[in-house]
Amino acid sequence: MQKEFYLTEKLPPYIFAAMYKLKTEAAEKGVEIIDFGMGTPDSPPPQFVMDRLAELSRDGNLFAYSVTGGIQILRDAICNYYQRRFGVALDSKSEALVTIGAKEGIASLATAISSPQNYFVVPSPAYPIHTFAFTLAKSNIVHLPAIKSSDFLRDFKKFVEEKLAKCEAKPLAVIVNYPCNPTTEIVGLDFYQEMVDFCKKHKIYIISDIAYCELYFDEKDKPHSILEIEGAKDIAIEFSSVSKSYSMPGCRVGFAVGNPTLIDALYRIKSYLDYGSFNPLQMVAVDALTEKSDEYLKTLRALYKNRGEFLCELLKNELGWEVEKPKASMFIWTKLPKQFSHLTSFDFCKEMIAKTGVVMTPGSSFGANGEGFVRFSLIRDEADMRKAVAMLKKVFLDKI
Ligand SMILES: Cc1ncc(COP(=O)(O)O)c(C=O)c1O
Repeated sequence: MQKEFYLTEKLPPYIFAAMYKLKTEAAEKGVEIIDFGMGTPDSPPPQFVMDRLAELSRDGNLFAYSVTGGIQILRDAICNYYQRRFGVALDSKSEALVTIGAKEGIASLATAISSPQNYFVVPSPAYPIHTFAFTLAKSNIVHLPAIKSSDFLRDFKKFVEEKLAKCEAKPLAVIVNYPCNPTTEIVGLDFYQEMVDFCKKHKIYIISDIAYCELYFDEKDKPHSILEIEGAKDIAIEFSSVSKSYSMPGCRVGFAVGNPTLIDALYRIKSYLDYGSFNPLQMVAVDALTEKSDEYLKTLRALYKNRGEFLCELLKNELGWEVEKPKASMFIWTKLPKQFSHLTSFDFCKEMIAKTGVVMTPGSSFGANGEGFVRFSLIRDEADMRKAVAMLKKVFLDKI
């Protein structure tokens, strides 16, 4: 009987599954686990979302299949949100679509537009689906280093120009993701302008992911949408969701907006694959995307900002680990501490789980260029952060 399959062979074990095994082994040995691994929000969603969901869940009619592409009131709400938040006008029928989270949306788009003959430029490090969406779609990927957005932009332009000079195929699309998971970097409109100008000139699509666009810590760092650039819709599609902004990751409601050709391609694939998320979940997403969430968002931003600052200070003061404070997202991204720099990021994380119970995500799990870094998710309170750093200190002191 066949035991190896074409696609599964190409997929390394998902990092969080590997980390789960290490955590379980440590816990079985009596180590207390303090988990900064996965980016799962630990806050409840806005109260009005939970109240309305409870109410809607009592309506038996809403348990029917939903519709591919999402219910119209949510498509309208997404467009209203883009108008209010980014000043971008969208047509809710041809330029906006509901997905089962941003992750599913990106994977389905990749299925829709990939072929074994074309290829995609993906940053490294990157959120894994930015790479594996194209692996799953049996297409091809070129990774370019993206520890800094300016390097990525420069290298991307050089790469395409060299391809064209050699009369070789250009990529079909490029991925951009700011605020970035894992690097937490944000970019200004100048970055998007240059990307759009270049890609329009060379007829390359842009796939933007702004899943963390509401998690910023200063008004001056407020993330942008690529669609704010005039004419971006000619070549760009953008994904986001209610997962991180409103702490609703289990609801699986995301969306895609922008280029009508890509939106239509995504719709056609999804019409074969799914009937959309549970109607009440889409209906509460409508509410979440309105001004009703403004107060909630203020509180959530303050929470992640304070946690980020608190953990950076602790790491510096207690361990001498110099870590840059994030400007956005729900992560800290940093180089391995000096005394552990001889280890791979995976071995460092493995050692820390076994000896301290503190779980971080190895940078290498986001791609080769993430090697040498680790990521903390800001999903624990101050008491846990103190406890974690105290545990790490015992191991760090041994190494001085
Ligand atoms: C950059 C990025 N995009 C998308 C997602 C997935 O979001 P969703 O829950 O909407 O599928 C994540 C989740 O961690 C992410 O980090």
